[in-house]
Amino acid sequence: MTSSQESDFREKVIGESSSPTEPDVLKILCVGRICLDIVQMCEQFPAEDSTQRSIDYRWQRGGNASNTCTVLSLLGQSCEFLACLSADEHVNFMQNDLRKYKIDYSHCPMIEGIGCPTATIILSLNTGTRTIVYHNQNLPELTVKNFEQLNLAEYSWIHFEGRNIDEMLLMIQRIENYNNSLNGTNNHSKKRMPIMISVELESPRSGPRLLDLLSYTDVAFIAKDFAKNQGFNNMKEVIHTIGQDARLRGAIICAWAEEGAIARTPCGTIVQSPAFPPHKVIDTLGAGDTFNAAVLYYLNKSKVELMRKYKDEEANDINKLGDNTIDDSTVVRRSIKQKNICIENLECNRTKFIDEIVLQRAIKFACCIAGAKVGSKGFDCLDKIFNHILQLDFPIH
Ligand SMILES: Nc1ncnc2c1ncn2[C@@H]1O[C@H](COP(=O)(O)OP(=O)(O)O)[C@@H](O)[C@H]1O
Ligand SMILES: *[C@@H]1O[C@H](CO)[C@@H](O)[C@H](O)[C@H]1NC(C)=O
Ligand SMILES: *[C@@H]1O[C@H](CO)[C@@H](O)[C@H](O)[C@H]1NC(C)=O
Ligand SMILES: *[C@@H]1O[C@H](CO)[C@@H](O)[C@H](O)[C@H]1NC(C)=O
Ligand SMILES: *[C@@H]1O[C@H](CO)[C@@H](O)[C@H](O)[C@H]1NC(C)=O
Ligand SMILES: *[C@@H]1O[C@H](CO)[C@@H](O)[C@H](O)[C@H]1NC(C)=O
Ligand SMILES: *[C@@H]1O[C@H](CO)[C@@H](O)[C@H](O)[C@H]1NC(C)=O
Repeated sequence: MTSSQESDFREKVIGESSSPTEPDVLKILCVGRICLDIVQMCEQFPAEDSTQRSIDYRWQRGGNASNTCTVLSLLGQSCEFLACLSADEHVNFMQNDLRKYKIDYSHCPMIEGIGCPTATIILSLNTGTRTIVYHNQNLPELTVKNFEQLNLAEYSWIHFEGRNIDEMLLMIQRIENYNNSLNGTNNHSKKRMPIMISVELESPRSGPRLLDLLSYTDVAFIAKDFAKNQGFNNMKEVIHTIGQDARLRGAIICAWAEEGAIARTPCGTIVQSPAFPPHKVIDTLGAGDTFNAAVLYYLNKSKVELMRKYKDEEANDINKLGDNTIDDSTVVRRSIKQKNICIENLECNRTKFIDEIVLQRAIKFACCIAGAKVGSKGFDCLDKIFNHILQLDFPIH
């Protein structure tokens, strides 16, 4: 190997960054909606036409993608949120809260003259339910134009709320083009991993068309409400039936409240985790969003760890190359070549690292985090609980 070949190789395999403009830590982007949640916590669900006092009352920034960002951030993952923001009287509350949780919202378009979507939510301590009354006076949806403002080199993973399907497919197309542009040779940006894509199938209003998204995503979360609306009675049925869907390309994951969660690897192995219920269920608002964020966190981290492992091995091999006899160096070179192929496979086949062990740990971790969340108010308990859980039970290698 000449020294220029070697540095080329080093750059390709080890991924040493030579460009100061490229960030070291890549973000997870969540694309979806934000809404104002007005939450009343009641001893029991009120009877119609009655008056009762609530135990607690709060305003909270809500919306699926917005909540997922909150949890990612509390887990220590840098993240960005993309949605249309209404410039109404609540906008300061929303922006202050995004800043408080260190969530980048710099690419969110501001919409004048149309109010922020609002949800009035009643939590019942008696039964642990959360009843949601939602209002949206047609705040416009994001468009691919908004998405084009992003520099995709900043993201390792992009998560979509499954809605607004036609625009979303255009955004995914753009990510695919970016991924493909990484595949050249002699291009300094090629050492990046392709961006992973996940989607949450949640909105029953978008109907079965949401299932078309299965062909474009690495990980699909199938929410209980969506599944019930499609006629499924339990999570096993969901994973077995959708697992047979010809459109399916990546992993699928289905969480089901007290029953925990089930998932299927891209190769078809099914894994499961029980729920980890708290002493008392206090606040189930955003349990699913918490679960999703914890899975994303875990899978993103697993991907990084796996790449690092390969890279360390490569670095060792290259060091050995320097001071060896010809015979040894032939052997080392062959092993480098094999691992190099391995990395290229990994880059092309992005879901390969989501094997049954990683996926099982991911959903177990997520059930632990979501279980802790439903046992306390809001999301703020999570950063403390998280470190504890991660250190005790969840080796990431
Ligand atoms: N009552 C509960 N007890 C224990 N864990 C729960 C409970 N509700 C939710 N979870 C946890 O949260 C995860 C997501 O639950 P899910 O029902 O999908 O939430 P959502 O109602 O927000 O859609 C479950 O997999 C489980 O780990
Ligand atoms: C997520 O992945 C990106 C690179 O793909 C990495 O920069 C980031 O640190 C990862 N997040 C965590 C918490 O490991
Ligand atoms: C991402 O890149 C890989 C390979 O570079 C490609 O197979 C994949 O289709 C790309 N994009 C998406 C959105 O899947
Ligand atoms: C990436 O490039 C290799 C050859 O350099 C080619 O075989 C492969 O099909 C390409 N992959 C994509 C997704 O374009
Ligand atoms: C390298 O890849 C980037 C996309 O990441 C692309 O914009 C650029 O044109 C490529 N450069 C060359 C020399 O191919
Ligand atoms: C997403 O948000 C909607 C409305 O706020 C809520 O009904 C639903 O439970 C959320 N989904 C998850 C998985 O948390
Ligand atoms: C990617 O890997 C999965 C699981 O190993 C496999 O089923 C699939 O055929 C692979 N796809 C490609 C394009 O190599």
